[in-house]
Amino acid sequence: MNTKYTALFQPILLRSGIQLDNRIAMAPMTTWSSNDDYTVSDEEIAYYSRRSNGVGMVITGCAYVTASGKAFQGGFGSDHDDFIPGLRRLASAIKEQGAKAVLQIFHGGRKCPPELVPNGDVVSASAVSGEPGTGSNPVPRALTETEIQSIIRDFGESTRRAIEAGFDGVELHGANGYLIHQFFSPYTNRREDQYGGSLEKRLSFPLAVVDEVKKVVAEHAKQPFIVGYRFSPEEPETPGITMSDTLALVDVLAKKELDYLHVSTLEFWSAPRRGVEDTRSRIEVIKERVGESVPVIGVGSISTADDALKAIQTGVSMIALGREIIIDPDWVEKVKLGKESEIETKIKKDAKSHLVVPAPLWKMIINRTGWFPIED
Ligand SMILES: Cc1cc2nc3c(=O)[nH]c(=O)nc-3n(C[C@H](O)[C@H](O)[C@H](O)COP(=O)(O)O)c2cc1C
Repeated sequence: MNTKYTALFQPILLRSGIQLDNRIAMAPMTTWSSNDDYTVSDEEIAYYSRRSNGVGMVITGCAYVTASGKAFQGGFGSDHDDFIPGLRRLASAIKEQGAKAVLQIFHGGRKCPPELVPNGDVVSASAVSGEPGTGSNPVPRALTETEIQSIIRDFGESTRRAIEAGFDGVELHGANGYLIHQFFSPYTNRREDQYGGSLEKRLSFPLAVVDEVKKVVAEHAKQPFIVGYRFSPEEPETPGITMSDTLALVDVLAKKELDYLHVSTLEFWSAPRRGVEDTRSRIEVIKERVGESVPVIGVGSISTADDALKAIQTGVSMIALGREIIIDPDWVEKVKLGKESEIETKIKKDAKSHLVVPAPLWKMIINRTGWFPIED
């Protein structure tokens, strides 16, 4: 290895007691490729296995915690014990290749297509529609307090299943506009009960989920178990999450004894829109606020080994690779072996089998313009 990349290959000991071999994680990515009954498919097992040799930790695509939270056709579930055998195969496939296995768990809330949820009943913090990206979704129904408490317990139950399936941890998906994010956002949360109305109350649901998951881990895990939390730092809408909201979120999460915070951005170096007067990137502002209290993971368009080095030099504890590790499953191994100049940064149209990508994900990659760099 070129010694200048040593910082990427330092082991890191997380608060739970789990040590990761290096500072690079595979970012969570849905594959739309489960079996028809939403159990993990063989194609997915092969895809993850191919990408688990090299990174310190693999975070899986998001698994829904209850049927009303199913946001993706072919996005696997974790809402019943019948899912445990498939999840166990997934955890084992990742761990056999040397990475720690973390299951991302979520509820889609207002982003769930009506045809995927029971009775077409799309739910959220409040009955607010209109966010870009929700397509023709109907206006969601605001959850009752009893339903909210039930979903909090569902996050706990999915965590128990992750433990029983042999995962090393869970990541709570509080990012990208899904239900946890919807409760935190002043755009989607217009409630006036204990779950909304002020910044503090908008934090109630996310924090209750964290507490429930930590409680389940304390009760059920016989070995150290990772709990991470992913969030999106800002929203374009007004009202919407600003950097100042996010710093308040980070302050409370930093006290929750989590293993890491994962900042979801498409571009690691993206700058704050509003809420702080700062010319630095969002990730640098967040990292400074958190200090050493909890590791921070940054992600987004980190294509080359030099990009990764520059990112880790900001002081973040880890970086995650998403599209890059689909495009080149050997990304980490190549850097380790001093072959970083051989990293593929564009996807070849005939590389599906070679790259071990499930057919539904491959279709998305090829058909969705501007998402993946594709070689002519
Ligand atoms: C195919 C695909 C599926 C994704 N699915 C998820 C997901 O399930 N959960 C999540 O938090 N982010 C998801 N993301 C976002 C990625 O985790 C990541 O933040 C984003 O792709 C930016 O990183 P990159 O530039 O390294 O790809 C997905 C991204 C892609 C490309």
